[in-house]
Amino acid sequence: MTIPQPIAWTADGAVRILDQTLLPGEERYLDLDTVDAVAEAIRTLRVRGAPLIGIAAAMGLTLATRGRAASLDAVCAASRTLGATRPTAVNLHWALARMERRAARAVDGGEDLSGALRDEATAIWEEDRAMCARIGEAGAKLVGAGDALILTHCNAGALATGGIGTALAPVYTLHQAGRRVAVLADETRPLLQGSRLTAWELSRAGVPVTVITDNMAASRLRRGDVSCVMVGADRIAANGDVANKIGTYGLALAARAAGVPFYVAAPSSTVDPATPTGAAIPIEERSAGEVSGWRGHQAAPAGVAVWNPAFDVTPAALVTAIITDRGVVAPADVAKGM
Ligand code: MRU
Repeated sequence: MTIPQPIAWTADGAVRILDQTLLPGEERYLDLDTVDAVAEAIRTLRVRGAPLIGIAAAMGLTLATRGRAASLDAVCAASRTLGATRPTAVNLHWALARMERRAARAVDGGEDLSGALRDEATAIWEEDRAMCARIGEAGAKLVGAGDALILTHCNAGALATGGIGTALAPVYTLHQAGRRVAVLADETRPLLQGSRLTAWELSRAGVPVTVITDNMAASRLRRGDVSCVMVGADRIAANGDVANKIGTYGLALAARAAGVPFYVAAPSSTVDPATPTGAAIPIEERSAGEVSGWRGHQAAPAGVAVWNPAFDVTPAALVTAIITDRGVVAPADVAKGM
């Protein structure tokens, strides 16, 4: 199975990313050697997906200690820069908080700050890879026997994580086990993560994938041939409400109306016990141009008003179960023991 690796260290400690804004047309890797370059890559979605932006921010933070006397102040300033890039995915803020705690311990203990941060960022990345594998195992068991058709939204695959993805992890696990599994990928307006990214990585891995536009999903769910919906998450509140890519809520409503199970797959780092309900999750709003045009082509009258929230909140009541690295849980139980 060919699985893309969207992030890596370079030999001299810079952060190498696959520029996801260019996919599927071009597979170009960028070597980022400043905190500002990593922040720009996160803000512009060159690197994206909740777990991956946490990993990228952690790796990016190490650049604050490169080529100069490393200091805790420089690390904290860099953390603020990286933390200001995107508000919704809690993984970003979780990873930066963990890195800041590690930096403080290193300084207190007289350790090499740069080395300690590099090891911590690598650990965050490796732990995410392991969590994806566990999500794959747990999610695969939820998919009944026989051929499976899984509908997904946005990209919660290898391109969004340090491993085989979250929503796509059960797909890859089933595919590798020789099961016949196919995916319906929502196109995911306005930035087309479904058609550009999910379809790209699944095709490369040899998983049959069919792209639909977002407004075709409800109708397809009513046909009765979709086994389940699987999506990722950017933040899961303590009560099980789920923030994910805009359009997820509508998909959950359609799945409920059609009697199709609606699963959310996410690592523990996406669960935010400090956020009581979905109402408290900050929703990123992006520029009007993402909706009114596409790569230079005007799709709406110039200057027309646009509303462009990047995420929505699906109430816990619409979620059949949440698949995490700790197993399959009812939404109301997702933050228990955290
Ligand atoms: O704006 P994006 O592309 O970063 O949004 C990504 C999503 O909404 C994903 O579904 C989510 O981050 C989960 S990725 C495992």
